[in-house]
Amino acid sequence: MLNPRLYKSTRVYDFFLKSLGYERSIHRFLGSVDLQPRDHMQILDAGCGTGMLGLHFLERFPSATLTATDLESRFLTTTLDNARIRQIDPSRIRVGVADISHPSQLVTPDGQLVTLPQNHFHLICVGAVVGYASSTEDSLRELIRMLAPGGTLINLEMNESPTGRFISKRYHYANIALTRMQQILREEGCQVRMTRLSLVHLPAKFTRVAIIATKPPKPTTDN
Ligand SMILES: C[S@@+](CC[C@H](N)C(=O)[O-])C[C@H]1O[C@@H](n2cnc3c(N)ncnc32)[C@H](O)[C@@H]1O
Repeated sequence: MLNPRLYKSTRVYDFFLKSLGYERSIHRFLGSVDLQPRDHMQILDAGCGTGMLGLHFLERFPSATLTATDLESRFLTTTLDNARIRQIDPSRIRVGVADISHPSQLVTPDGQLVTLPQNHFHLICVGAVVGYASSTEDSLRELIRMLAPGGTLINLEMNESPTGRFISKRYHYANIALTRMQQILREEGCQVRMTRLSLVHLPAKFTRVAIIATKPPKPTTDN
């Protein structure tokens, strides 16, 4: 459950991410993640906040389109504002309100309930959000179902360092152990690796770690 006092002003939150160099360090890290480019990549940024993750990939993959969701519509507005600032064509982005507890259930800005398809997204990025789900485990399993065969989930998760734990506590972020998280993703058939951020990724290194899961490609049938 989101504490309503959190992220009171999305603009102030956005200002701090930028001015502290946090956003820049996240971009530097994401730029180092090896991903196969493909035409018309479908990307989901669930719990997008200011759009830091999803917008990075829209810039990196020029034919990609992004579905950006958050529990708070204010953040969707900030994401669209940030896209405009970065001169990203808004027609490449659709936004909707969704609870990370059921990430496939989206309410569009005109009030329509949409179920996002399974086996669809080539890239799903989440950051410091699955701990807000009523069940982190169910949320992760649903995200993997939405991933296309061969697709990648990048979870820029809160890390288990004293700083990561302090910030998580401060923001009422209740996450499961990172080893358990990896185990769940493996149970879903994914190849999983955990990458710690390095010194060049300061200050994000203080609080985040990357868990990257790749769903197996569709088996090829003979003849
Ligand atoms: C720490 S911010 C992370 C934003 C971004 N993903 C990142 O990596 O920086 C947490 C975001 O999760 C959103 N959030 C909180 N509870 C949520 C929920 N139950 N479902 C979806 N989003 C939620 C907040 O509105 C906020 O935008």
